[in-house]
Amino acid sequence: MAQSKHEKIEKNVFLMIVLTLLTVSVGGLVEIVPLFFQHSTTTPIDQKGNKLDVKPYSPIRLVGRDIYVREGCYNCHSQMIRPFRAETERYGHYSVAGEYIYDHPFQWGSKRTGPDLARVGGRYSDEWQRTHLINPRDVVPESNMPAFPWLDRPVKDDIQAKMRALNMVGLHKYSDEEIAAAPAEIEGKTELDAIVAYLQGMGTALQNVR
Ligand code: HEC
Repeated sequence: MAQSKHEKIEKNVFLMIVLTLLTVSVGGLVEIVPLFFQHSTTTPIDQKGNKLDVKPYSPIRLVGRDIYVREGCYNCHSQMIRPFRAETERYGHYSVAGEYIYDHPFQWGSKRTGPDLARVGGRYSDEWQRTHLINPRDVVPESNMPAFPWLDRPVKDDIQAKMRALNMVGLHKYSDEEIAAAPAEIEGKTELDAIVAYLQGMGTALQNVR
């Protein structure tokens, strides 16, 4: 009996692998490529097309963001509010793509030992944030978040190299003047100042919208 086409594919491992890879690649490209051109993922707008006040990271917030990554805060905190009632009641407006356009790389995270931080900006005072980072138990007695007392030390950071690197990958281009002024902006600051500046700006663009 003659082999059907399908039988030929199923009985030839090599052909099967090649065709599987082809199918998966085409499927993947169809899903991913449009995202690069979709307006809402490349400009600071919300789902309805309203302009959002998302600002590129200032030098001190850039430093703070890298400390967040270095200390592994993302292991316990996500930065992504899902569009469900239980989430929006607790954290505020769900996250939209346009809010993340200056994030390289994203800090969405996938684990929540602690609360989501996508809209934590302005929720507490700077003083609360500092105390909380040095010893969380001082402000939240039942907290099991680790203490980060060593953050109270001067910032050491090659900020200009960082900004130039971001100019290569990012949507925002820091100007030569901004880059020249950056070292003075972080001069004399502590790591605690930097990470608090980072936290206080988080998610503020869509914070008061329900
Ligand atoms: C081992 C897990 C863990 C790590 C690592 C961790 N946290 Fe937390 N975090 C928690 C938990 C649990 C809470 C809730 C209790 C509390 O408020 O202390 C919390 C709460 C917070 C809050 C208050 C959020 C709110 O809405 O009340 C902030 C801000 C915060 N963490 C920032 C950080 C930062 C910045 C880092 C990294 C330097 C970090 N956390 C690292 C577990 C963690």
